[in-house]
Amino acid sequence: MKKIFSIVMAAAMLLSVLALAGCGGSKAPAPTTDNKDDSSATTELKTVVAGKLTMSTNAAFPPYEMTDDSGKIIGIDAEIAEAIAKKLGLELQIDDMDFDAALKATQDGKSDMVMAGVTINEDRQLVMDFSDTYATGVQSIIVKEDSPIASAADLANAQKIGTQRGTTGYIYCSATTENGGFGEDHVVAYDDGIAAVQALMNGQVDAVVIDNAPAKAFVEKNPGLKILDIEYVTEDYAIGFAKNNTALKDAVNKALKDLIEDGTVQSIIDKYIPAEAE
Ligand code: ARG
Repeated sequence: MKKIFSIVMAAAMLLSVLALAGCGGSKAPAPTTDNKDDSSATTELKTVVAGKLTMSTNAAFPPYEMTDDSGKIIGIDAEIAEAIAKKLGLELQIDDMDFDAALKATQDGKSDMVMAGVTINEDRQLVMDFSDTYATGVQSIIVKEDSPIASAADLANAQKIGTQRGTTGYIYCSATTENGGFGEDHVVAYDDGIAAVQALMNGQVDAVVIDNAPAKAFVEKNPGLKILDIEYVTEDYAIGFAKNNTALKDAVNKALKDLIEDGTVQSIIDKYIPAEAE
């Protein structure tokens, strides 16, 4: 009995020492900075919901974001975001929505960040800020196995090209021919990549243009399709923030940098994309 009592006492003392030292508080600590940037070392990070890091995404983009059998959102972005939130002392909350809505939620300050395999491009940079890049994406072309389409140029002969609404795949393909695209009339925008692939299976479109990693995942699940062995456009993925939300962007960027440097980001990518089969 005595022994148990002294263990309890010791634990209680340890807890109070920790509390005095400022550990274990319920407030989200400011990110630890190496030195210099002491402005953020004392101020708390302002987020949409206090204590939470709210991320908007479109969880129909495997292996970056998808749902498991229990409906939980998993994937490369979800795991990197989880590691970032942990470093910032925040609880990650993922909100699933259409891709264009996920971009907009962040721009409108309804989510703290959008992480959805988002490609950095100039137009988006006008309306949002981006972290450093953490992965590379390549726009790929999916066709039926017996398709006459064998190159990006052949897309000009496609009656219809399927894409996901609001994505760079849509932006490239719907551009005018002078701007390297095929014209809006030849492009159909679907809610997500899966719907575009289904339209391809059903013969409603002749090709689908989408990022290579989800392209592989979709083709694996749908026999009779293939990915053309060409790299249509190479892109950089980054986390998006509302314009001028510099404190949060800097804090997330710092955490991301640490996670890239210590190999965490690469190991998460390797877990979902084994042995970079490119
Ligand atoms: N990388 C492309 C873009 O930024 C497609 C991203 C789509 N992401 C998603 N989670 N559905 O436009």
